[in-house]
Amino acid sequence: MEAQAVAQIVAQLIQVAYIAAAVLFILSLKALSSPATARRGMFLAEAGMLFAVIGTLLDQRIVEYQWIIVGFVVGSAIGAPMAIFMPMTAMPQRIALSHAFGALAAVLVGVVKYNHELSLGAPPSWGFMAAIGFEVLFGALTITGSLMAFGKLQELIRGAPITYKGQNVVNIALFFGTLGLFGYLIFNPTATNLFYAMIGLGLVIGVFIVMPIGGADMPVVVSLLNSYAGLAASATGFAIDNKVLIIAGALDGASGFFLSILMSRAMNRSFTNVLFGAVGAAPAAATGGATEQRTVVRYTPEDATFLLENAQSIIIVPGYGMAVAQAQHILAELGDLLSETGAQVRYAIHPVAGRMPGHMNVLLAEADVSYDALLEMDHINDDFANTDAVIVVGANDVVNPSARYKKDSPLYGMPILNADKARNIIILKRSLKPGFAGEDNELFYDPKTMMVFGDAKQTLTHMVQQVKKKVPA
Ligand code: TAP
Repeated sequence: MEAQAVAQIVAQLIQVAYIAAAVLFILSLKALSSPATARRGMFLAEAGMLFAVIGTLLDQRIVEYQWIIVGFVVGSAIGAPMAIFMPMTAMPQRIALSHAFGALAAVLVGVVKYNHELSLGAPPSWGFMAAIGFEVLFGALTITGSLMAFGKLQELIRGAPITYKGQNVVNIALFFGTLGLFGYLIFNPTATNLFYAMIGLGLVIGVFIVMPIGGADMPVVVSLLNSYAGLAASATGFAIDNKVLIIAGALDGASGFFLSILMSRAMNRSFTNVLFGAVGAAPAAATGGATEQRTVVRYTPEDATFLLENAQSIIIVPGYGMAVAQAQHILAELGDLLSETGAQVRYAIHPVAGRMPGHMNVLLAEADVSYDALLEMDHINDDFANTDAVIVVGANDVVNPSARYKKDSPLYGMPILNADKARNIIILKRSLKPGFAGEDNELFYDPKTMMVFGDAKQTLTHMVQQVKKKVPA
């Protein structure tokens, strides 16, 4: 067959691979919107990515493969251990790091493509410059913004908002200054120094917009930076004429943006503050410091088990502490045992319980808790009042009643699970320390509350042993 005919067939194969990838990405987003189909969604996305990679590797414009292989090996050597060994609790910072790498790739591609266009002799078109400028600018601010978010989440840098006088003015001036440079470059594409200055300013903006945002809001920032990285990738697609990159980037940009809005709403944060890095009433990061001097009665796991064995209806409220203790399996076992004794057992899932969207769903799914038993806040909140017992497992902010009325609380306005309305409340945690928002929880001092101190996994293990003594195997 003639070389030209082969080239034509390969070009068509690439298009087919790209269409398949785009369809799979869209289907995966749809599937990811429900816990029951989320796992399938991940497989679809992975298959989509495989098609996209294969299609790209077939590209006739690839001159040699050795650097691609080197990149593949180095990337896998970094990515695989990160995926395998990083604990679920560190997932937000892992995602932040991935965004930084993704954005770095977009910027590097942008710089190379810009230089390549310049080397062709004729000045690049304004359309090209708009795409490439957008790519490197958003890419640059995503690199440093994501690294800042990583640092705050990993507590390498102070989680509390870092603010100073005139910060808004500086940020706005910087932003519009950089935008001005971007505009200038579109019509003066050969001003190479200004191109690099724009990248430098983008890097600075990334630091400046994340600096005034508190650690508690970081996952919203990470989701927003995900959106920026997606937009940068989409712009890369325009610059290097790669359709699948345009589609995948746009999907990433849009879904990250919506997720940020939904997360802000669930956490009762101002989205505009997060978007513009404005100085808002960001909560102090959890220091584990301030605790009230009131006293609580300390109960034993046996006391709690006795109460549960006599309950007809039980709601379990999991939180970040369940993830830390890795208590999901033993919790599911307790739930099953209690169901076997005839009680109705359900799980109440707060939209921001844990540290990332869907955190509790993922862990409980891993422990084989049926999706039907997992109820979202809006669906279960009215039932607490008719419930005999609530077990709060390492959750704190999501059941803190001060969110309803304490105006100066960082939690004020955040919808919470009505655990306090139940007839009895059992709280499993290690101490009286506050949760992520740093706000003391009056639920601990409620006369209906039994505080059972200790690591959630250990306490639950005791409880399971107790129940098993009564329930014959
Ligand atoms: P938190 O309010 O953070 O409380 C978790 C509690 O778990 C802590 O008070 C801690 O108390 C306890 N704990 C830690 N390790 C434990 C262990 N080994 N055994 C037993 N208990 C343990 O968690 P939450 O109720 O899930 O609320 C989530 C918070 O994170 C909200 O403020 C939310 O806005 C914020 N946030 C959520 C997200 C998303 S998207 N989910 C993103 C960013 C921020 P002790 O130290 O006394 O044990």
